[in-house]
Amino acid sequence: MKKVSKHLTIGLAMVLGFAMIMAQVGTAAAAPIKIRFSHVVSPNTPKGQAADMFAKLANERLAGKVEVQVFPNSQLYTDGKVLDALSTGSVEMAAPSTAKFTSWVPQLQLFDLPFLFKNSDALYDTIDGKVGKKLYKMLGKKNMLGLAMWDNGFKQVGNNNREVKTPADMAGLKYRIMSSKVLEAQFNAVGGNPLVMPFSEVYSALEQGVIDGQENTWSNMYSKKFYEVQKYITGTDHGYLGYMVVTNAQFWNYLPKDVRAELEAILQEVTAWIRVNAYKINMDQKQKIIDAGTTKVTELTEAEKDAFRKAFKPVHNEFRDVIGGDLIDAVYELNAKN
Ligand code: LMR
Repeated sequence: MKKVSKHLTIGLAMVLGFAMIMAQVGTAAAAPIKIRFSHVVSPNTPKGQAADMFAKLANERLAGKVEVQVFPNSQLYTDGKVLDALSTGSVEMAAPSTAKFTSWVPQLQLFDLPFLFKNSDALYDTIDGKVGKKLYKMLGKKNMLGLAMWDNGFKQVGNNNREVKTPADMAGLKYRIMSSKVLEAQFNAVGGNPLVMPFSEVYSALEQGVIDGQENTWSNMYSKKFYEVQKYITGTDHGYLGYMVVTNAQFWNYLPKDVRAELEAILQEVTAWIRVNAYKINMDQKQKIIDAGTTKVTELTEAEKDAFRKAFKPVHNEFRDVIGGDLIDAVYELNAKN
């Protein structure tokens, strides 16, 4: 505004008519608030579609007031780096997976614990209930505001060396993981060698044999074409992949009240959409991986999945202090109720 008023007093006022200047000032004052939403996945994933839907609705309903621009595919920032960018105001919104918050809010690794949720009711009761509230508060202490949690789905394991039917089949292989200590412990529990790597590097790491395997959802594996460079995938459904939609708390609180309220209403709408559609997108893209015919997809019986449950279970106890035993127990209680 300072710049604009300087403009007004010098030169321009002499050249342009008063009305024109007022129009200019008016335009400058009413310039739409820019919201840059950065993420690392493709637009055709659950998160990619949700981010685009958020942008579309916000740009329609708050036309002239807000301009949301989505940057997919790590165009702006890879993985957890976006959280630094959020804190310095280089972007306004992001939705990293819970694992990417490890150095900020390690308690969010709760969601990375293998086989934690009995079903989707237990998951949503966790997010929407007192556990979710506690975690949002923890984000607040880092000047981040948690706006919503979005689903991707459940992770599967893939590799290039052999078909995995038992936990022992996972031993000795090098796996890419997201930056979460829980995920490191999970692979260590079955004798695997975990390696933290940005999502954007996984395809070439598989192609070049830098890693043997990785874990991710069907949708993330399909949209990044991992099936081209990965011979085996086993449907373990062993861990949840979800996102914390975050903004910079100062930025959000600075927004005009009506704009903030509308954006929050849109976020609720998009969250409801993703809860219904993320699973469908994953199932559709799983079929596309199968149809590509380049990867052997192995399904497990419940008894076979139990062997993985048992092998990964010690990780829950290992992280009671880091995550908080109270949070883990609260999820167990919700599992028992659902
Ligand atoms: C990954 O790094 O594998 C995922 O977190 C990517 C994503 O955002 O779904």
